[in-house]
Amino acid sequence: MYLPEIRFCEAEDLQAVLNLNAENPWPWPEAIIQYDLSPASNQELSYIGAFSNNIENNELLGLAVIGRERDLKRDFQIDAKTGVLMLLLVARRCRRRGVASQLIMAAGDCAGYLGFKTLILRVRRSNIPAQNLYNKFNFAFPKNAVIRGYYSDGEDALIMSASLPLFLRS
Ligand SMILES: CC(C)(COP(=O)(O)OP(=O)(O)OC[C@H]1O[C@@H](n2cnc3c(N)ncnc32)[C@H](O)[C@@H]1OP(=O)(O)O)[C@@H](O)C(=O)NCCC(=O)NCCS
Repeated sequence: MYLPEIRFCEAEDLQAVLNLNAENPWPWPEAIIQYDLSPASNQELSYIGAFSNNIENNELLGLAVIGRERDLKRDFQIDAKTGVLMLLLVARRCRRRGVASQLIMAAGDCAGYLGFKTLILRVRRSNIPAQNLYNKFNFAFPKNAVIRGYYSDGEDALIMSASLPLFLRS
C-alpha cells in the first residue's frame, strides 16, 4: 500500500489534473476541469487529489471528484442529502496500491462534511474492477440501479449507493 498526501486540488494543479485526465479511458472535457479549477468556478465540485509524498516531485497520482447532482435522471431519485462521486481515477503506474481506496475514504469524509448522508456513483456495467472496489466500501446496487444506454457509446450505467460515513468491509 502507498500512502499519498491527500488534499484538495487548486488552480496551480490544473496541468497535473489535465495530464491525469488524459489517462482516463473516459476523459472529461478539458473545459470543465479548467472552469472547475479556475477562480471563476462556483465551487460546486470538490477535486480531491492523491499526491506523491516526494517533496521534489509532488506528482498527482489519483483524483476523486464529488459534488451535487446536476443531471437528475428520472430512473433514480436523488435528494439534497445525496452526494455524487463523479470521478475516480488513478494513474496506471500506481494502481493496485490502495490509492483509490484512500481517495474513496477522503471523498466520503468530505461528502459527510458537506452535509450529505448518502454517496452515489455511476459505473459502467463492464467496469468490474471499479465495482469490486466500491463493493469493498459497502456500496450496493439500490432498486432501479440501471440507467440503460447512459454513456455516449450506449453502455448502461449502474448506480451504486452507500450510506455515510463509509467504512471498509471486513
Ligand atoms: C478503478 C481504479 C480507480 C482502481 O484504482 P486502484 O488505486 O488501483 O484501486 P485500489 O488499489 O485501491 O484497489 C482496491 C480494490 O479494488 C479492486 N480492484 C482494483 N483494481 C482492480 C482490477 N484491475 N481488477 C479487479 N479488482 C480490482 C480490488 O478489490 C482491490 O483490492 P485488492 O487490491 O486488495 O484486491 C483504477 O483502476 C482506475 O483509475 N481505472 C480507470 C478509471 C475508472 O475505471 N474509474 C472508476 C470509474 S466509476
